[in-house]
Order: sequence, then C-alpha cells, then structure tokens
Amino acid sequence: MSTQEKLERLRKLSETIELGGGEKAIAKQHERGKYTARERLDIFFDDGTFVELDKFVRHRCVNFGMETKEMPGEGVTTGYGTVDGRLVYAFAQDFTVAGGSLGEMHAKKICKVMELSMTMGAPFVGINDSGGARIQEAVDALSGYGEIFFLNTRASGVVPQISVILGPCAGGAVYSPALTDFIFMVKGISKMFITGPEVIKTVTGEIVTEEKLGGAMAHNAVSGNAHFASESEEACLAEVRQLLSYVPSNNLEEAPMFETNDDPERMDEALNTFIPDSSNSPYEMKTIIKSVADNGEFFEVQEHYAKNILTGYIRLNGRSIGVIANQPKFMAGCLDINCSDKASRFIRFCDAFNIPILNFVDVPGYLPGVGQEHGGIIRHGAKLLYAYSEATVPKVTLVIRKAYGGSYLGMCSRDLGADQVIAWPTAEIAVMGASGAANIIFRNEIKEAKDPEAKRAELVASYEERFATPYVAAERGHVDMVIEPAQTRPMLINSFEMLATKRESLPAKKHGNIPL
Ligand code: HXC
Repeated sequence: MSTQEKLERLRKLSETIELGGGEKAIAKQHERGKYTARERLDIFFDDGTFVELDKFVRHRCVNFGMETKEMPGEGVTTGYGTVDGRLVYAFAQDFTVAGGSLGEMHAKKICKVMELSMTMGAPFVGINDSGGARIQEAVDALSGYGEIFFLNTRASGVVPQISVILGPCAGGAVYSPALTDFIFMVKGISKMFITGPEVIKTVTGEIVTEEKLGGAMAHNAVSGNAHFASESEEACLAEVRQLLSYVPSNNLEEAPMFETNDDPERMDEALNTFIPDSSNSPYEMKTIIKSVADNGEFFEVQEHYAKNILTGYIRLNGRSIGVIANQPKFMAGCLDINCSDKASRFIRFCDAFNIPILNFVDVPGYLPGVGQEHGGIIRHGAKLLYAYSEATVPKVTLVIRKAYGGSYLGMCSRDLGADQVIAWPTAEIAVMGASGAANIIFRNEIKEAKDPEAKRAELVASYEERFATPYVAAERGHVDMVIEPAQTRPMLINSFEMLATKRESLPAKKHGNIPL
C-alpha cells in the first residue's frame, strides 16, 4: 500500500466513524430535537479545541452475531478540549450507535478520560444519552458500569465532575451521574429513572409518563437529584461552562479570579431600609445577595428544590464565593430535611474545592411536624452541622434577621467555625422568638397579673428589647461586628481578602462519618 493509500485509508476510517450510526440515525436524533454526540462536544468546548481520543476502539463481543456488527466509535466520543482556555475532559454517548448502549470497550474509553482528568487535575464532564447496559455484552457491560462508579468515587473531591443528561439514562446507569457533583437536565429531553413507567405500572399499578417520572423538573423540583433544568441543549451546555468558571480545576487549586468593573467599595443605601419592620414579614433574600455580588450576578444551584434555602455562587471583587442563604419567602426560611441535604452537599463541594463560604442568615428554627421528625430531621439536620464544622475554607456568616436556637448554630455560628460573624442591626440572635420565650419564662408572672394580656405584651416587649438584637451575642464576642446594611459589600470583600491566607487542617483520620 502506498503512502497516499494509507492516508486515504485513515481519512476514510475517520469519516466512517465520525458519521456514527449513519445519516438516517442522525436525522432521527435531530428530529427528536437532539444534537449528536460530536455536535454537543463542539457546542460545549471553545471553538476548535476538542481533541478526540480512542476513535478506533472496537468492541470484542461475539454474542448474538455481534462479531459482524460495526459500532463506530463504540457508541461514545471521548477526549479533551478547553473551556474559557482551561483544560476539561469529556465523553458524549452517541445514541445513533446502538442507542449509546454501554459495553466493555465503551466503558474503557470513558474510564481512560476519567483517569486522565484525575492525573492532569482537570474537570470531567459526561454527556449521557444511552439505552443503558449493552444487552449482548452481559456481565462485561455491568462490569463497565462498575469501573465507572469506582472511578467516579475515587475522583470525588479531586476534580469537579459534572453530568449532563441529554436523553435516556435508566436503570443502574443513573448511578454514575448520581456520584458526580452536579447533574444538568433539559426539559423534554432528559430522562432518568431506576425503573421506567412500564415496570412501575406492572409492579405497583401506578400510571405515570416518562417526563413526570424522571424528566428535568421531576429531578430538579421533586427528587432533588438534579441541580439545573434548562430549556434547550445549547442553554444547558452554556450553563455548564458558566458553572466551571466558578470552580477550580482540582482540589489543589483555587477558583479563577476575574477582573471586575464593579467597585469593591460600592455601598447600597437601599439595604438600610430593606428589612420590614415586622419581623414576621417575608422578603426576597436574593435581592440582598445580588446587591452585594459583583455586577449583581448570582449563579443559583438547585434553584427549584428546597426553596427555603438558597445555594449558589457569586463573585466578590472577582473571587468565587459559595453562598448558602435562608429564604424567608419560603416556609419562613425554616430548616427542614430537604434543605439540610441540599445545603450540606453544597458546603462539602465548596470545601473540597477551596471555595470560601458565605452564609446569609434569617432562620426561625427547624420545621415542626410529625413528617419531619419521622423522616429523620435529626439525622438530616445533623449533616448541616457536620458539613459546616468539617469545612476548613474561609467561612463568613452574615446575620440579617432571625437566628434562633439550634438553627442559629445550624447556619454556621462562630462555634461551628465561622471565621467572621457580621450582623445587621436587625439581627435577632436568641434561643427562641420573644413571644414563645415570654410565655415560658414569665408564665407565673403573666398568670398572676391583674391584666394577663397587658402583662404578657409588656414582658414580650422587654424580652424583644433585650434579646431580639445582635448585641447580647456581640457582648460575648459571638458576633464580631454590627454594621450598617449599606456597608455590606465592602465589608464582605474586606473579610474574604483578610481570610484569603487561611490555613487549617483537620486531625489525621481515614475519613469522618457524616450522618447519611
Ligand atoms: C443494546 C440497544 C440497547 C441496549 C437500545 N439499543 N438500547 N442495544 N443494548 N441496552 C439499540 C436498539 O436495539 C436499536 O438498535 C438502537 O439501539 C436504537 O434503539 P431504539 O429502541 O430503536 O430507540 P428508541 O425507540 O429511541 O428507544 C430508546 C430506548 C430503548 C428507550 C433506550 O431502546 C430501550 O428501551 N432500550 C433498552 C433499555 C434497557 O432495558 N437497557 C438495559 C437497562 S439495564 P438498531 O440496531 O435497531 O438500530 C441497565 C443496567 C445497568 O442498564 C446496570 C448498571 C449497574
């Protein structure tokens, strides 16, 4: 064979493989409003930076006539490229080839890029679109999943791992995304479930559509398995790029700093009068977060789930900061099972990847109810205490209004390792609200008074004046400073700059035992 012929052979082979399952299958993919694996990688990476690996890998299955079946690219495209100039590894399952089903060599391609991402210290993004284990490959396919789960776990806390679901992801296959740090889904396109509608109908008699059972909103708003719900594949992949801009490439680095034209000394006078006079009136916590953030940008994580707590990223003078905030607009910002899970996992990601933590506190307590108690609020609430206490990144707590009882501790008080606690004059740091407290500690005085209601009102007012303030906590040093709300942005920027050199290590141990 001449050199020219060898070159031709390479070109032809490449072309065939790049066509995946062929023009008909590609057209079917497009008809469903979906991009192909290669198109998705092109959209995701910086223009022209994607480098494909293992293009020529072939399966070695000989069951059910598979020895004669071509599976171009093994049903998955793998490689690396850059996102805003930073190295990222990725795979995209190719649904046009045997439904993107996963066999032994398909799994080996994925495992190779996962290992490279760990060795090089670069994030790993997996685009899932697959009919699951390649049935003809039997235990070899299962073993492939096992290897991926193992590597997902070993990579956890070493490099950020992101799963993008752009098609079916069913059965045990869901556990790779579940082991990664963030799951992105697209409305009408993504589906995740352990058992689908047909099996459920047979076993339990329940009738449910795929979208309702395991679509983007099912996992974003109900189960809490997913973190982002997008309207289109393009929007979804753009959001993955945005998330990557807030996180470092690995656990030994810090998140990239960004130049900002937003003045670090910028004050916001509107905050001075933002908190309602009545301490039971709700307000939008996101207004405060956006007011202090660079350019008013808050990149929210799990926006649709457990809305009583907010999690997400902002930048303060260019520095990436993880935000956890009570949301008085939902359930008065009470802590419950779901929000404890949501916040704890977010805190642990931030801590694993050196992202400082900022807490906005307005919490009346834990949500009362038999459902919460029997659902294990004790265990779930403990996760929050554990996650905050374990975190060694800089931690700043800003008490806006209520910080009552156990939930005051649960939102990272000084005792749980907050490096700086700042309060607004509207802060109420106490064991409980004034009315409940007065009923208990002044029970006899109220009962014996000539006019019990007048006495009660008088005693509630005196309790409020003494305890529903930041000053008792400040007298003991639990609060470092009480500031005018307008000064919050410059003060927070100052705090995180002061804390930038923080170094703290935990006692040597294999690992802790977070209440799960
Ligand atoms: C082998 C598969 C396959 C699979 C799809 N294909 N899934 N081949 N193994 N798991 C093939 C089809 O045979 C077909 O091949 C092509 O992919 C396209 O599939 P269609 O059925 O035509 O596509 P569509 O109508 O869009 O339906 C997609 C689907 C369906 C819903 C994903 O294919 C399906 O139900 N597949 C089986 C799903 C499943 O039961 N998987 C195993 C789950 S158990 P041709 O040659 O006709 O184009 C599992 C365990 C993992 O995954 C455990 C990990 C611990």
